[in-house]
Amino acid sequence: MKKGGLCLAVCGVLLLAGCSTGGNDTVNQKEAPAVQADPQEVYMSNCASCHGGNLQGATGPGLQQIGAKMNKEQILQILENGKGSMPAQSHISADERDQLATWLTEKK
Ligand code: HEC
Repeated sequence: MKKGGLCLAVCGVLLLAGCSTGGNDTVNQKEAPAVQADPQEVYMSNCASCHGGNLQGATGPGLQQIGAKMNKEQILQILENGKGSMPAQSHISADERDQLATWLTEKK
């Protein structure tokens, strides 16, 4: 932010001098966050139909306290291989499965 202000000041000076790079300010101020999948969104589109929109359970068991029951490895196993009548979730990318499993282990 300080940098932006500085640039604004500098560009302002430069503008006075006939410089036209003022437009760079908008680019400089963008603090691009790392692109990351939102595990909750992944859950909503892949799991909520069976496990409920609030992890409360539906056709599948509730997952509200799954973190107290299973560790990340176990959850990943289920996502990769399925369990009982739950189909394997291999259509979800490994990255997203990983984040989803981490997110679920926090549910306890
Ligand atoms: C088609 C319905 C269905 C979908 C979609 C589904 N599940 Fe399941 N899930 C089940 C069923 C049914 C079980 C119970 C399986 C058993 O124990 O025999 C289960 C079990 C689980 C368990 C173990 C729960 C326990 O207490 O033993 C976890 C963890 C789990 N699912 C996570 C997920 C996640 C995360 C997703 C989304 C990526 C997902 N499931 C998608 C139906 C589904």
